[in-house]
Amino acid sequence: MIEFYLNGRHRQLHSADPNLSILEWLRTDARLTGTKEGCASGDCGACTVAIGSPDAGRGGALRYDSVNACIAPLGSLHGRHLVTVDGLQQEQPHPVQKEMVECHGAQCGFCTPGIIMSLFALHTESAATGASADDKALLEALSGNLCRCTGYRPIIEAGRRAAAQTWEPAQGTEQQAKGDEIDLSGPAWLQASEMLATLGQIQERAAGLEDSEGRRYDAPTNIQALRQLRDQYPQARLVAGGTDLSLEITQFLKDLDHLISVANVDKLHEIREDKDGLYIGAAVSYREAEPLLSRRWPQFHAMIERLGSRQIRNRGTIGGNIGNASPIGDMPPALIALGAEVELDSVDGIRRMPLEEFFHDYKKTDLRPNEFIRGVWIPEPKADEQLYLYKISKRLDDDISAVLGAFWIKSDGERVADCRLAFGGMAAIPKRGPAAEAALRGQTWDISSVEAAVTALEGEFTPMSDVRGSSAYRMQVAGNLLRRALLESTHKDKKQPLMVTDYA
Ligand SMILES: Cc1cc2nc3c(=O)[nH]c(=O)nc-3n(C[C@H](O)[C@H](O)[C@H](O)COP(=O)(O)OP(=O)(O)OC[C@H]3O[C@@H](n4cnc5c(N)ncnc54)[C@H](O)[C@@H]3O)c2cc1C
Ligand code: FES
Ligand code: FES
Repeated sequence: MIEFYLNGRHRQLHSADPNLSILEWLRTDARLTGTKEGCASGDCGACTVAIGSPDAGRGGALRYDSVNACIAPLGSLHGRHLVTVDGLQQEQPHPVQKEMVECHGAQCGFCTPGIIMSLFALHTESAATGASADDKALLEALSGNLCRCTGYRPIIEAGRRAAAQTWEPAQGTEQQAKGDEIDLSGPAWLQASEMLATLGQIQERAAGLEDSEGRRYDAPTNIQALRQLRDQYPQARLVAGGTDLSLEITQFLKDLDHLISVANVDKLHEIREDKDGLYIGAAVSYREAEPLLSRRWPQFHAMIERLGSRQIRNRGTIGGNIGNASPIGDMPPALIALGAEVELDSVDGIRRMPLEEFFHDYKKTDLRPNEFIRGVWIPEPKADEQLYLYKISKRLDDDISAVLGAFWIKSDGERVADCRLAFGGMAAIPKRGPAAEAALRGQTWDISSVEAAVTALEGEFTPMSDVRGSSAYRMQVAGNLLRRALLESTHKDKKQPLMVTDYA
């Protein structure tokens, strides 16, 4: 059984196909059709809903995140409050809805429910925490919402105007959503104390779903239970945020027999910080990890801001990015460059290894059948170390890298004492360039050593050609990123834009 709240009303589901997404369930079983399907792959945002989870950092109050319902497994609703656009149909429209109308923010309207929900999540977050809802925040909130016919100017204007308003739905009104018995009674339904208390209790209970054909979804809450399940069912698929795994269902039409969710396991949300480094549990999302990483290495801010969209960053986890073992995953090259270690767990115990040794070949890793990724450890930065992190993709938002370059350089004051140059998109796995590193080590960090490293790179990588870039393009970009790191490090006035003439 899974238990959750839907638009303020308690729900229990005893049986369902675990391959169902929240979107499919909403539109078919729950018959709430306000949420639309555009792409079923997390790209367009038409299906965006808000999911409230008890947040320990806010005394257990709910934090509402925008989520792509098309790639979020139904089972992931356990212990959460799902708010859909149907839930905002009160006598008083939400300010976001009102301003979308007044600013003419919709034409065909297909993207509109998703845009409303992304803006709603921002509005709710801003009202709860005082976080800014300025233009930058609006653009980030909308980074996963495509609108083909209205254009973004009126949508952003609607977001700006809504930010200045509070939401005061009519007191004591009760409204029946068509075809369902949804009860929206009063302004407090987003944070109703009864719901908060119940969700807290639900979250402590393990969840499970099974359908009549024996397909299963298990969501344990503690690490022992996860170890046991993994050991008993090594063929089952692990799922965290589902932003990669769900595509196997929605795009490749796979029917998965058994999913084991790691998302509710307390130990996989662990964050530890000490003088030696930062430990991030495998189920920590990008949204939660970003400030921790950026505080140490500010370069992560710009990179993670371009990893997927806001919806993807709300759900996607670092463990999932490593477990997916894609050659174009953004975190592995960055973590490899920093000398990170991955921690693997099973009934046989815990083992740790340098992250770069985890990847063997395309989608082949060192993970044993009964193991799961528990977390990743990243050494603390030192004063004599620099990180350069560059993501190259065709679009700024919500696009996968063609090439990612991550360069860690340790200097002894005059020379490169040590370095790690790691790339995504250049090989079947995230990979370092040992020959290029050797060309830099012990040398002055200048144009002649960098050019020697670029030549070495050309000898040790043979990138593939695909829709994201040809082999020659990728090779050129990889070398240019190294040149760019040199330019940036030697550019005297960091506040001024870098000019090409500075290169000479
Ligand atoms: C629209 C869109 C945009 C995207 N943009 C980017 C991008 O810009 N950069 C990028 O790098 N990625 C991107 N992704 C891919 C994806 O969001 C990331 O790889 C994300 O980190 C996956 O995390 P998850 O928790 O959703 O993983 P899931 O989908 O839950 O799992 C992914 C894989 O890892 C395995 N797994 C999950 N957790 C564990 C664990 N603890 N132990 C062992 N195995 C585990 C699963 O079995 C599965 O094989 C994008 C995806 C979408 C849909
Ligand atoms: S339907 Fe396009 S993101 Fe979900
Ligand atoms: S209004 Fe038509 S896609 Fe946005």
